[in-house]
Amino acid sequence: MTQNSKPKTRNPKLPFVLVNMAMTADGKIATANRAVSSFGSRRDHEHLLELRTTADAVMSGARTVGSGKITMGPGGAKFQRLRLRRGLAEFNLRVIVSGGGNVDPRAEIFRHRFSPVIILTTGRAKKNLAALRGAADEVKICGAREIDFHTALPWLRERWKVKRLLCEGGGEVNGALFRAGLVDELHLTVCPKIFGGRNAPTPVDGAGVLKLADAAQLKLKSARRMGEEMFLVYSAR
Ligand SMILES: NC(=O)c1ccc[n+]([C@@H]2O[C@H](COP(=O)([O-])OP(=O)(O)OC[C@H]3O[C@@H](n4cnc5c(N)ncnc54)[C@H](OP(=O)(O)O)[C@@H]3O)[C@@H](O)[C@H]2O)c1
Repeated sequence: MTQNSKPKTRNPKLPFVLVNMAMTADGKIATANRAVSSFGSRRDHEHLLELRTTADAVMSGARTVGSGKITMGPGGAKFQRLRLRRGLAEFNLRVIVSGGGNVDPRAEIFRHRFSPVIILTTGRAKKNLAALRGAADEVKICGAREIDFHTALPWLRERWKVKRLLCEGGGEVNGALFRAGLVDELHLTVCPKIFGGRNAPTPVDGAGVLKLADAAQLKLKSARRMGEEMFLVYSAR
């Protein structure tokens, strides 16, 4: 199903899915060599942490998790308190997407045990399963070669009570979610920089659509200028 043809009524077994990304004015989320992927202002970082306070779980792809000192946590006591006031657990769950199970068990995320880390993977990860199970709190196989998010997301809701899922990229995971028609809301921060680079990742990568009719249709919910950045929120429903 394409994002465009998805049913208008929400499946109550699915979590509400938000995608949050910072991109340059030329639509890149990192430089072509991937050395630079953090380029937003402090305000943008605060925005990311505030969004996390609204989500039961934060999800990212294997390459994003492996790209630095990523912990995917709430970001400090102030945000933990905010979560509790909102009736959420003090710490968000953390979800890693990795079809091949290529997640380093020594990665930073596994050194911080404040909340469960869940890995969504596929049959391709067979030889890595023991290591993944040693590192994560749960490993779920959802598909033979590609993760079937229509299986994975209801499972997250049922098993881990995830009602709001915040996906923080990268482009490949976001692309899979859009292709599956599972994104409810897109938060984009447009940062005043140009990276260029035909191979630099963008907010939504992967195969992409080939026809205009298959494009995800968004509605602009809000646009705020703060300093030199634009904070855009689109509804994808
Ligand atoms: N500016 C920002 O806001 C922002 C945010 C996040 C990331 N980034 C940057 O973006 C870059 C990473 O983006 P990316 O698109 O290259 O990688 P990514 O989406 O973070 O991770 C890609 C990996 O996720 C797994 N994956 C994704 N979709 C899958 C599916 N449908 N089925 C099975 N596995 C799937 C695969 O793992 P396996 O290879 O293990 O199968 C794939 O290699 C990094 O440079 C990062 O720092 C920027």
